[in-house]
Amino acid sequence: MRATITSIAHWVPEDVYPNSFFEKYLDTSHEWIFTRTGISERRFLKEGGTSDMIVPAAKECMAKRGVKPEEIDCVIVATVTPDHFFPSTAAIVQRKLGLKNAWGYDISAACSSFLFSLTTAVKLVESGACKKVLLCGADKMSSIMDFQDRATAVLFGDGAGCALIEASNDESMGFIDSILHIDGEGEPYLHMKAGGSVKPASEETVRNREHYIFQDGQNVFKAAVKGMADVSLEMMEKHNLTADDIAWLVPHQANLRIISATSDRMRLDPSKVMINIDKYGNTTAATIPICLSEWHKAGKLHKGDKLILSSFGAGYTWGAIYFVWNMND
Ligand code: COA
Repeated sequence: MRATITSIAHWVPEDVYPNSFFEKYLDTSHEWIFTRTGISERRFLKEGGTSDMIVPAAKECMAKRGVKPEEIDCVIVATVTPDHFFPSTAAIVQRKLGLKNAWGYDISAACSSFLFSLTTAVKLVESGACKKVLLCGADKMSSIMDFQDRATAVLFGDGAGCALIEASNDESMGFIDSILHIDGEGEPYLHMKAGGSVKPASEETVRNREHYIFQDGQNVFKAAVKGMADVSLEMMEKHNLTADDIAWLVPHQANLRIISATSDRMRLDPSKVMINIDKYGNTTAATIPICLSEWHKAGKLHKGDKLILSSFGAGYTWGAIYFVWNMND
C-alpha cells in the first residue's frame, strides 16, 4: 500500500514584521537581511502558543476533505517550540480539536521535522496501523528568538501547516521514498544552551540569555548547502530522475542562498523552486507544508507532479523525500 497527502492547509499570524522593524533597534538594514537571506518580512504570533496556530490550519485541512475529528486515528506534531515540555503538543491539539479516537505524539527534528514526521506518518498508514493521520508542522520561533541578537533575530517567523495522510487511491502516486540523516556532531553550531535537563532554567541562565537560539551561522550555512544538495541529488540518482522530470523542488526555507545552491546543483530551472521565505522567514517545521499548501491553493500543483522535498536543520538533521502529487487542482 502507498500513502499520500489527501488534504493540506496552513495558517500564519496576521501581524507582519518587515525588515524595517529590526532597523529601529538593531544595527541592521533591510538591504543586509534581504541580500543575505532573501527575507523581506515575517509574521509573529502575539498571544498563544504553537497549538493555537495548528488548530485553525488543522480545522481547514479536515474540512476540505470532509473528515470529522473522530475519524482521525493519530495526530503527530512536528515542532521545536512545543506549548510545554509536557504534555505533548499533540495531546493539546487532540483536546482542542476533539480528536476523541486519536493517539499521537510530537517529533523533534528542528527544520527537518516535517520530512521526518511525514515519513513516520506514511509508514503508519502503509503498515495498516492507521487510516487517517493528521500531520502538523508548526513553530512559534518568536518564543525562542533573542530579539537583541541581530545574527538570529532577523531569520525566523511563526506559522503552521497541516496535512492529512491516508492510503493512496493510485499506487503510482503519493509518497515514493525518503532518505533521512541525523548527525549529532552538529550540536555545537545550532542549539539552545539552557532549559533542558543538562542545564535547567535558573536566574543565571536567564541573565545570560541562554534560553534562545544559538547559531554559528557560517558553519550551519556550509553544512546546509552540502547536506541539502547532496541528499536531493542522491534521491534523483536513486530514482533516475532528471531535472526535466521534476515539477517542483520544495525546499526548507532557511536562506535563499542555500535554496539556490541546492537547485543549481540539481540543475533545476529557478521557476521550478517553491520560494516564500520573503514573506515568512524560517518557520522551521512549518516551511514545507506552508509551501505545499500555498502552491496547492494557487492551483500551481497538479496531479502527477513529481516533487523533491528537501530540508536541513539543527542536530544536524537533513533529508529528501520523493513524492508524486496526488490531489486534484
Ligand atoms: N545585520 C547586519 N549585519 C549582520 C547581521 C544583521 N542582521 N547579522 C550578522 N551580521 C554581520 C556579522 O556580525 C558579520 O560582521 P563582521 O564581519 O563584522 O563580523 C557579517 O555580518 C557577516 O556575518 P556572517 O555570519 O559571515 O554572515 P553570513 O553571510 O554567513 O550570513 C546568515 C549570516 C545567518 C544569514 C547565514 O550564515 C545563514 O543563513 N546561515 C544558515 C542559517 C540556517 O540555515 N539556519 C537554520 C538551519 S535550518
